[in-house]
Amino acid sequence: MFSAQTYTERRNHLKKEVGKGLILIMGNDEAPMNYHDNTYRYRQDSNFLYFFGISQAGLNAIIDCDSGEEIIFGNELTMDDIIWVGPQPTLAELARRVGVYRTESPEKLPSRIKSAKILHFTPPYRYDNMFRLSEWTGIAVGQLKEKTSVDLIKAIVGIRSYKTAEEIVQMEDAVNITREMHMTAFQMTRDGRKEYEIVSAIHAKALEMGGDLAYPAIFSMNGQTLHNHYHGNTLENGRLVINDSGAENKMFYAGDITRTIPVARRFSDKQKDMYNLVLKMETSAIAALKPDVQYREIHLMANRIMLEGLKEMGLLTGDIDEMLNLGVQGLFMPHGLGHMIGLDVHDMEDLGEKYVGYRDGLERSTQLGLKSLRLARELEAGFVLTVEPGIYFIPELIDKWKAEGQFTNFINYSRLENFKTFGGIRIEDNCLVTADGYKVLGRQIPKKAEEVEAL
Ligand code: GLY
Ligand code: MN
Repeated sequence: MFSAQTYTERRNHLKKEVGKGLILIMGNDEAPMNYHDNTYRYRQDSNFLYFFGISQAGLNAIIDCDSGEEIIFGNELTMDDIIWVGPQPTLAELARRVGVYRTESPEKLPSRIKSAKILHFTPPYRYDNMFRLSEWTGIAVGQLKEKTSVDLIKAIVGIRSYKTAEEIVQMEDAVNITREMHMTAFQMTRDGRKEYEIVSAIHAKALEMGGDLAYPAIFSMNGQTLHNHYHGNTLENGRLVINDSGAENKMFYAGDITRTIPVARRFSDKQKDMYNLVLKMETSAIAALKPDVQYREIHLMANRIMLEGLKEMGLLTGDIDEMLNLGVQGLFMPHGLGHMIGLDVHDMEDLGEKYVGYRDGLERSTQLGLKSLRLARELEAGFVLTVEPGIYFIPELIDKWKAEGQFTNFINYSRLENFKTFGGIRIEDNCLVTADGYKVLGRQIPKKAEEVEAL
């Protein structure tokens, strides 16, 4: 937990930005896995963590912009709770640690909400919170999204987007734990091992360092599948493995790092050429980070480097600008260059990407690749984001485009046949935008081809 002053200042900032009305910040409850008392790993809502700091189920909070009042609603522990989960600080004590001096029982909350002339709430993403909110407000579940407060969303995004120095300390900690997860994976990856053996070691490392996974690990020889959560393959010499895994540290900040490892330890020439191309995309994109530059432009710059490289390799032919405009790059990099990161691995995505990564006048593209770009707007000092270019050979997509005759004047489909078992390569780091450039967070994680081979 940060100091009470940090949370008090954040709430004061929020009150000032929203101006009037009652702000409701809903906490998360336990989520049942297969029956009520057998639950998934608990994760508090990130807005609740940001403004109220307490990672505990069963809490909701209000901030009254008009009276200045702040109340956390939740039950004090009963003897039954103490018997089953052990003694805990009282809710009043926890609230005091985050600078809140009033707590109430949950039954008092609905009447406060009903009597509010203006109620601000964010879009609930958990079904139990949707039902609860619907009951308290009388708004049908299906209408909650359109009744959310855009003023509150914009205010939160306007605060959480700028990471403070004490948050950066936490984010570097998350990346440093993530680094150890990756070092373990580099060292364990070898012919004959099961992917899940390495995934379990990655997870163990996060736990061992006081954290956990920030998102389900992606560790796969079939890296051409972007979010591949199947870990049952046996590693084979000659193949590449994508390791996209990150830690959530004790303070719930996320790391999100990707490295690509040759199972045989050495890259083949073909793999190394492609690897160095992705590395060039990544390092060039990082070098371009600075305030006022549109991240969309950096995404397109990375795409351009990729198209030039693939053209040199004989997989493409023709004018690069034309290919870039038409979206030929979507075949090889069908995802965005990166996203904001913070308490959430895709930071504030619950609030809507159009508020986080876009702005009025900057609309989301429908083109393959660009349509998955979660951060497109101008960068500002204090933003922390991922830079994660990749090149993938997705046999099904190649076959589809070929059958449809897409871009046959640019794409050398016969050469691409040799890449259908190549898999994919992605390289990702987490970067802070500073007043005059950028800082890559955490201790350096090997990424030059020779460094990777040496591990
Ligand atoms: N780490 C997975 C993603 O960024 O989508
Ligand atoms: Mn990512």
